[in-house]
Amino acid sequence: MPLHIIRNDITKVECDAIVNAANNTLLGGGGVDGAIHKAAGSGLLEECRKLGGCKTGQAKITGGYNLPCKYVIHTVGPVWRGGGNNERRMLESCYKNSLVLAKEYKCGSVAFPLISAGVYGYPADEAFDVAVETIAQFLMKNDMTVYLVIYGKNAFRAGSRIFSDIAAYIDDNYVDENTDEQYELMRQAQCSQILEIQKPGVSADKAKSFEKPKMSEQSDQYEFNDISIFFSQSNSDIKDIIGDMLDESFSQMLLRKIDEKQMKDSECYKKANIDKRLFSKIRSNPGYRPAKTTVLAFCVALELSLDETNEMLMKAGFALSHSSKLDIIVEYFIKNRNYNIFEINEVLFAFDQSLLGSVN
Ligand code: APR
Repeated sequence: MPLHIIRNDITKVECDAIVNAANNTLLGGGGVDGAIHKAAGSGLLEECRKLGGCKTGQAKITGGYNLPCKYVIHTVGPVWRGGGNNERRMLESCYKNSLVLAKEYKCGSVAFPLISAGVYGYPADEAFDVAVETIAQFLMKNDMTVYLVIYGKNAFRAGSRIFSDIAAYIDDNYVDENTDEQYELMRQAQCSQILEIQKPGVSADKAKSFEKPKMSEQSDQYEFNDISIFFSQSNSDIKDIIGDMLDESFSQMLLRKIDEKQMKDSECYKKANIDKRLFSKIRSNPGYRPAKTTVLAFCVALELSLDETNEMLMKAGFALSHSSKLDIIVEYFIKNRNYNIFEINEVLFAFDQSLLGSVN
């Protein structure tokens, strides 16, 4: 996942470079500046003294000293004065110049705090939007892992209008766990039976009829017989038994959709917030079994409809469920044809949900 949004203390984040929200003197201060200097030790201040300060929006680099990173990139955010003094452009420059410097120093990973969102008074929601948007633009053209590190329990109403719309949508659609669980279990069982059938090596000579889960008489629990399925017919008959459910696997459908949409592979996996290595694994393995957030990330990147999304999920053994806030939030964006995965991840983060993309 090229862009992670995490809650942590940036001085604890192990990566190639961490970014400091400094002031123009570069001689330390409070907030994250103070925390970084404290954790790095006196060597950092000595090196900063030689840099001759830094202009707002610019970035300079030093060693990481006692921090778990190789470099510290110091940037100076704008002080918020109501929004009419070029604050947004200056803040964007902080992220852009820091990322360019990180790339120059061949950093594979970099961590940012929310620049200007503390002492400098930039409204946190807007600072968050600027950070995500600017980093996302950089990642569409560059391979790097970026952590946006949110400190403490800052609550976010990412994009206040959309936030309240989504909160209302969740209220209208969310069903608590047990109501939906029965059907979720059945869906998953049927999906995993499909996957079992697709597994290489489930061959004709050890097979029996396809069994469906059934509601038991005694209780309202679904009884799931042995999910491993055997067939007595030849492979070619398997397709008749399961019909078109077996016409292609998740990764085969993914590659077909990329072709149909006339996308380049790189365009697709970058829009999905998926890194190149994972995409290569999926591309080379027709039986690849992805995480649900990975499937949803590709559905968003491919701008699939809700039906196509459910079809792709089914191929991977999943289904959208109204007992999952994550699923409801993604459903909201797909229904509104908003396929900006970084905007979706901002909202998922604000609702304390996992993000779309994948970590493996
Ligand atoms: N790890 C990650 N983020 C942190 C940490 C930490 N250890 N400490 C604070 N933050 C967060 C704050 O919660 C805020 O969201 O960093 C963000 C930026 O806040 P500040 O550190 O106050 O930075 P900024 O608003 O850019 O003001 C810069 O403050 O510390 C002085 O010398 C600095 O004068 C400069 C000014």
